This record gives sequence, C-alpha cells and structure tokens, in this order.
Amino acid sequence: MYNQPFHSEDLSQYRFLVTGGAGFIGSHIVEYLLKYKAGKVVVLDNLSTGFRQNIEPFELNENFEFVEGDISCFDTCAKVCSNTDFVIHQAALGSVPRSIKYPVATNNANVTGFINMLAAAKNYKVKKFVYASSSSVYGDSPELPKKEYIIGEPLSPYAVSKRVDELYASVFAKLYTMEVIGLRYFNIFGPRQSPSGPYAAAIPLFIFSVLNNKSPVIYGDGNQSRDFTFVENAVEANIKALFVNNNEISGKVFNVAVGNQTTVNDLFNIIRTIANSNLKAIYQKERPGDIKHSLADISMAEKLLKYKPGIDIQKGLDITFKWFKKMYCSDLKQTT
Ligand SMILES: NC(=O)c1ccc[n+]([C@@H]2O[C@H](COP(=O)([O-])OP(=O)(O)OC[C@H]3O[C@@H](n4cnc5c(N)ncnc54)[C@H](O)[C@@H]3O)[C@@H](O)[C@H]2O)c1
Repeated sequence: MYNQPFHSEDLSQYRFLVTGGAGFIGSHIVEYLLKYKAGKVVVLDNLSTGFRQNIEPFELNENFEFVEGDISCFDTCAKVCSNTDFVIHQAALGSVPRSIKYPVATNNANVTGFINMLAAAKNYKVKKFVYASSSSVYGDSPELPKKEYIIGEPLSPYAVSKRVDELYASVFAKLYTMEVIGLRYFNIFGPRQSPSGPYAAAIPLFIFSVLNNKSPVIYGDGNQSRDFTFVENAVEANIKALFVNNNEISGKVFNVAVGNQTTVNDLFNIIRTIANSNLKAIYQKERPGDIKHSLADISMAEKLLKYKPGIDIQKGLDITFKWFKKMYCSDLKQTT
C-alpha cells in the first residue's frame, strides 16, 4: 500500500501528531508518514478501542513515539501539541450503537477531547489541524448524493458529537485564524479494522464470519446503501488536507468517500465471491440511529484538496480480504 506519495513536500522537516494513531485509520496515517520519512511522528492514544499491535511495527523506527494518554485531559493534549507542526486528530469513540448505549463517554472523547485538542493546538500555534468527522452528520437529510452544505438533524449522540466538532472547528478557524480542515469519512474499511466486539463495522465482521464459515448478521433488509471507502483513500485525503495551500478553506469540512453506492446485500455478495463462499446471512431488525442510504458528492474535495480516490470497493475488498486471511488464518485453525 501507499506505493505513490500524495504529497510533494519533504516530510523530514516536520513533526506530526496523530491522535488515535493506535486505531484503524490513525495507524494507516502513521504508516504513510513513516514510509515517507517524516521527521517525527507522535501517537497519542488511550488504547480504549485501538491496539498496541497496530503500532508495534513502528516502534523500531527512531522517528516514532507513542504516548499513552487520554484527550479528555487538557494537560496531556497541551504536552503533545507543544512540540508538533501538524495535528491529525483521529481519536474518538466510534460507532452509532455504542454512542446510543454510552452517550456520556462518547461526549467525553468526541466533544471534550476534541475541544481540548483544538485549544491545545491553537495555544501552540500548530501549522494545521486536520480532523476526522463523519457522514453521520447528514442525519435525517434525504438528499442524495450528500453535499457538504445540506445536512439534516442528527440521529445519534455520535452524530451530535461530530457535528459539534465541526462547529467548534469552524469557529476556531474564524476567531483565531487557525488552519483547520475537517474530513467527513464515509464507511472507511481496510486492513487492521477490528472485527471483534459488539460495535465492529460490517466489512470486518462479514470477512471474519466468512473466514470462520459462520453466517453474519445483516440489520434490516440489506437494501440500505453506503459509500464504502478504502482506507488508503482516507489517508490520501488527510495528507492532501495537511499540505493544501489555500487558507480560504480553513474551517471547512469535506466529504471523503469514493462517490459510489453499494447496498449491504451487494457488499456481502462481493465478499462471498472473493472468498468463494455460499454462506447465507441472517437478517435481524434494523438498528436505531442508522441512516438508510449514503452516497457522497466528492466534488468539493476533488476541486479544493485535489483528492482523487485511487482504490475502488472491489480492489479495496480484495486487499482487505487477503490481509484478514493472512492475519487470522492461524487463529482460525485453532478455533475450528
Ligand atoms: N471507520 C469509519 O468508517 C469512520 C467513519 C466516520 C468517521 N470515523 C472517525 O475516524 C476516526 C478514526 O476512526 P477508526 O475507525 O480508526 O476508529 P478506531 O476506534 O480504530 O480508532 C480510534 C482511536 O482513538 C483512540 N481513542 C478513543 N478515545 C480516546 C481518548 N479519549 N483519548 C485518546 N485516544 C482515544 C482509540 O483507542 C483508537 O485507537 C474517529 O474519529 C472516527 O469517529 C471513522
């Protein structure tokens, strides 16, 4: 992965802070930065949903540092921001169902943690703050494809938290002339996405089920659709947002997706074909807080960030399936 750079700058002159860098998307951003010889990459993570094993391969690199800490503590945020050029903020508690069960914990990480990081980055005058938002902010808006400036009412505490982040980011950009860019991710998937626990996302769950020869659960009739986006495309958006030279877009938020719609039933069929499996899914009633359809208009990111997602869902699923098979093969042999 990352066979071509998304930047033209010399990264060795810069220090980067990746919050949530032990998680799925964050660890890919770290991998990219180290591959292209970043001067320093610091990860701040409390390992609540991330894994030490995601960053283990980086710990041999002298330009890498791991700080175990929580973004809900302002002093921790200040300490890591005091010596960095760029902040790539990924740390948050993900998952709509988790936020419905744990709204206070979600708010602590996603809103208190977010403003702590934003304020610390402001105090230390970082060059740019790029952060993860979510397509969940489109809420009950029926508009398709989703355009950045048409959003509905949030349907979950998670969506509220991401919307509040966007509002804080916009206000900080205006009031303190900070360089801040938000990225509304649409269903990111790829290697290292966790398949375990009650809040795992559909793609790792489906792949893991198929590898285990166990039927996965599909909530609803499976005709709900998403703009599934391979993680390398999300990394591209982050890198391009970091280095785009246009202060008129500070405070803005951009859709990060591919611009293609796939139903959950079709997704499961693609995975079954890759795996050469004829397993059937088990259908259960749809979950509260979930949106029915999601498809991004990515023209704003294409135009202003020069974002050009290079990996489509089929190729992304091929890469992801191979990775899961290699990773979990020995575990599977032990459990079957
Ligand atoms: N994966 C997706 O499809 C998707 C979609 C939309 C938005 N997002 C957002 O992208 C970001 C990364 O998501 P991900 O899928 O990699 O999730 P993840 O759970 O794998 O990564 C999040 C990381 O943040 C860390 N973290 C959580 N709370 C923290 C805290 N209080 N202090 C320090 N670290 C903390 C976790 O330990 C984890 O390593 C999140 O902000 C998420 O909301 C993800």
